[in-house]
Amino acid sequence: MKKLIVANWKENKTRGEVLEWLKVFLKEFAGGQDFSRTILCASYPLLYPLRRELEQRRISLKLGAQDVSRFEQGAYTGEVSLRQLVDLVDYVLLGHSERQKYFGETLEDVAAKIRLCQKYGLKTLIFLRSVADLKEIKKNISSFKGAFLVYEPPSAISQKGVYRAQDSTAVAEAASAFKREAGGTGRVLYGGSVNAESIGSFLACPEIDGVVVGQASLEPVVFARIVKSA
Ligand code: PGA
Repeated sequence: MKKLIVANWKENKTRGEVLEWLKVFLKEFAGGQDFSRTILCASYPLLYPLRRELEQRRISLKLGAQDVSRFEQGAYTGEVSLRQLVDLVDYVLLGHSERQKYFGETLEDVAAKIRLCQKYGLKTLIFLRSVADLKEIKKNISSFKGAFLVYEPPSAISQKGVYRAQDSTAVAEAASAFKREAGGTGRVLYGGSVNAESIGSFLACPEIDGVVVGQASLEPVVFARIVKSA
């Protein structure tokens, strides 16, 4: 199976900047490229302009939201519901450690969001710091249907543009442990300081089904190199 490459832009870029990013990124490819395993995860207001651009230009890149409300709809000021996202995105990121660190999200919140995504048939990328997180979430969901697990230790995330290199053998062992705990069929991605130099070592491991790229996805030419290496 071809590996998934996920760009997580976090709280970066404006509408103008993402459209420019897309233009420069696409110039790096000859055309007719199959991008169906490449996912761009952008802030909510950028999803519609991106969706429109991809549709108009018939580009197969997939879109992801970086979070979603745990409530289906109603009096939850400031939240964005799955019903509002379902025709805009293909994937939803859930449980990123930054949501836990800065916004107090709990693993119980993550489980509630997984259940909603399953109800609406949206694929999820569930971030996990450890197998213990996975065990905890499992208590509150009935299956991992439609889920990709993302092993991302917070200590591996780049900080202020500085990458913190990780050993791909240790990551592959962790990926196997996640698969065992998820019931064998789970697909496991890795995130944390992946860049154009390190990606090869992760993708060479059969246990790792793809990568999530933060910092290195902000530059379109760098991200194009990463996509080409997959
Ligand atoms: P990074 O971020 O690639 O900049 O380490 C990854 C992430 O937090 O998803």
